[in-house]
Amino acid sequence: MNDRFLKACRREPVDCTPVWLMRQAGRYMSEYRAIRERYGFLQMVKTPEVATEITLQPINAFAVDAAIIFADILPLLEGMGLQLTYEKGEGPIIHNPLRAPDDIRALRVTDSRESVAYTIEAVRLTKRELADKIPLIGFSGAPFTLASYAIEGGGSREYRLTKKLMYTHPDTWQTLMTKLVDQISDYLLAQVEAGADALQIFDSWAGALAPGDYAEYVLPYVQQVIANVKTRQLRTVPLIYFGTDMSGMYNILRQTGADVLGVDWRIFLDDAWAQIGPGSAVQGNLDPMVLFAPWPAIERRAADILDRAAGRPGHIFNLGHGILTETPVEHVQRLVEFVHSYSADQATR
Ligand code: CP3
Repeated sequence: MNDRFLKACRREPVDCTPVWLMRQAGRYMSEYRAIRERYGFLQMVKTPEVATEITLQPINAFAVDAAIIFADILPLLEGMGLQLTYEKGEGPIIHNPLRAPDDIRALRVTDSRESVAYTIEAVRLTKRELADKIPLIGFSGAPFTLASYAIEGGGSREYRLTKKLMYTHPDTWQTLMTKLVDQISDYLLAQVEAGADALQIFDSWAGALAPGDYAEYVLPYVQQVIANVKTRQLRTVPLIYFGTDMSGMYNILRQTGADVLGVDWRIFLDDAWAQIGPGSAVQGNLDPMVLFAPWPAIERRAADILDRAAGRPGHIFNLGHGILTETPVEHVQRLVEFVHSYSADQATR
């Protein structure tokens, strides 16, 4: 197995810097669009053979060092009692959002092996197809980010209803977060049982909170998810915790217990790492929009990130957030090759 990604997660030395890209399977690839013409998005996620094929598309096209299972963070909420659709141009919609304490009391925690059996099966199938060539990352949304969709009813800019509930009904907030912790922990553990080699927890929107509120209303639940997975898993797999806009909170994020912290592009990688401390690996942090620039501009920025990592064990190259639709495929291919070749030379400089 090409294990430089897993080694970097454990802060062990590697021959060159591992790289994968968040949302590496998606609409910027023509192979993806060809399948998407025939299926709805949820249908693709819920058909294990299709999800497996899409997971492998970027693996076949680029020399990335990890695969990530093709799925989404939101279908987990369906089993809990929420109705989910994806609308063209609008993104995900929850049709019966959580608005009152009774809605939260009615939420169910279910066995993920049944409620999201299709993703668990896709992990199993993909592991078989990958034949241990590269590691497979399983993932889940984090309690806050999932709660924000469940409460707002879709994407949000201000998180007004989410924050209002958090501030107004702390007991109800605790009930909601505790149910999400149990559901998410079970889902992550089921993916490890099915063969996932690493796990990423997406807390994409937790950076919308003030650090004090993050520490009080979110951190304890992230810690519980990570502790649950660490104490109950069959094999030891690294855990990556990812958020955006969290540059003001790295001293708090050290306490999550994650092996790897995701870093977005709003901070220099070495500044972020200094705040995070030597006890965690870091993943990031190219602005996804840079891939729309001419190649020399991309190369300069990728080299700067690698220079800032300076060959220290524990850097995984990635974008600071998911790859965007319409990203030029040839830039993705060149970026992956550049990260490998530049970092391999770095070791000998
Ligand atoms: O990284 C990968 O390749 C795995 C696939 C993956 C998807 N979603 C596929 C997807 C992963 C890891 C996710 C996570 C996810 N989903 C997050 C956290 C990461 C992040 O980007 O912050 C969030 C917030 C979601 C929720 C979600 N799903 C939104 C807001 C949208 C609509 C926006 C969009 O890009 O259309 C989705 C849909 C979605 N998830 C698509 C894909 C490939 C596009 C679906 C399509 O083909 O129409």
